[in-house]
Amino acid sequence: MSAGLRTPPTSPGARLLGLGSFRPEQVVTNDDLAERVQTDDAWIRSRVGIAERHIAGPDTSLPDMAVAAGRAALTDAGLDPADLDAVVVATCTMPNPIPNAAAQVADRLGAVGVGAFDVNTACAGFCYGLGLANDMVRAGTARYVLVIGAEKLSDWVDWDDRSTCIIFADAAGAAVVGPASEADIGIGPVSWGSAGDHATTIRILGETTNKLHQEGQTVFRWATGEIAPIALDAIARSGLEPADIDVLIPHQANLRIVEAIAKRLRAKGAREDMVVADDIVTTGNTSSASIPVALDHMRTAGRVRSGDTMLLVGFGAGLSYAGQVVICP
Ligand code: UT7
Repeated sequence: MSAGLRTPPTSPGARLLGLGSFRPEQVVTNDDLAERVQTDDAWIRSRVGIAERHIAGPDTSLPDMAVAAGRAALTDAGLDPADLDAVVVATCTMPNPIPNAAAQVADRLGAVGVGAFDVNTACAGFCYGLGLANDMVRAGTARYVLVIGAEKLSDWVDWDDRSTCIIFADAAGAAVVGPASEADIGIGPVSWGSAGDHATTIRILGETTNKLHQEGQTVFRWATGEIAPIALDAIARSGLEPADIDVLIPHQANLRIVEAIAKRLRAKGAREDMVVADDIVTTGNTSSASIPVALDHMRTAGRVRSGDTMLLVGFGAGLSYAGQVVICP
């Protein structure tokens, strides 16, 4: 007869303890891009909302950016790397599938020997990683988890394709997740899913250029139609109403998509004074990094305050999507 297996002590919930981000120094303006492809500043601003973006040089790798953002989040949380039990890196732009990013990022941070793995759900990656970290902490698998979204999209962009090179950029953003008591739970249940029937709409053209290709209009229509209901589901799973949301941070794919999601949430009761992220204007679309980078920038700018109720929702290649309500640390 089996003696039965032991499981670790669980936690009532989890919360965000610290935030950090990193953007490479080099700024590329719309005018810079117009020197290479047929485009102009007015088109990019009006159709996508981007004024400039940051691009990493050859000496800055994806793990370099992830380490910088992760270190900043640990400092913000007041924790040492040795306190971590796991490192999760959300990314879809490692130069090669092997090795993963997380093991080397953990090691370089000084979180030696911890559980470390990558999550590839593209622009939904940070919210997927946060959902996993939340569950790991609640289940007692880990006490402190570092979740990083890091992308070096510039390696995968066709710089002669005006429909994509104007959008994507490089960055990393991070959050430390730790245990919470019943009274201060700060991460709500994740609402996530996938639409694999749309798999070819955003992909690497492996058979030809090995560069990123996107069916922009198709993805635009999908995002403006399908993502607001996911956001509303995340609110409902947390036991809240749309009017409870102080801050909306959707993946920074296109400012028109962000505004369309905000409009649909307001039609369902979200407040007019709900703060809506527009970090894409100066950061571009950085896939899995866009949500934590926007969050960190908004907090630094004083647009988001400790204790604010924030709705995060990511969506992109896969197609994949995920969202949850979190409390700002
Ligand atoms: O982050 C992952 C998830 N991704 C997304 O959510 C992206 C969703 N899609 C989008 O954000 C938009 O579809 C894009 C920004 C990619 C494109 O904007 P659009 O308003 O949907 O443009 P379009 O693709 O319908 O193209 C309209 C016109 C075309 O010209 P014609 O065929 O009408 O003559 C394009 O060739 O705009 C042209 N065009 C450009 N013109 C100037 C495409 N790119 C550019 C450009 N500058 N950079």
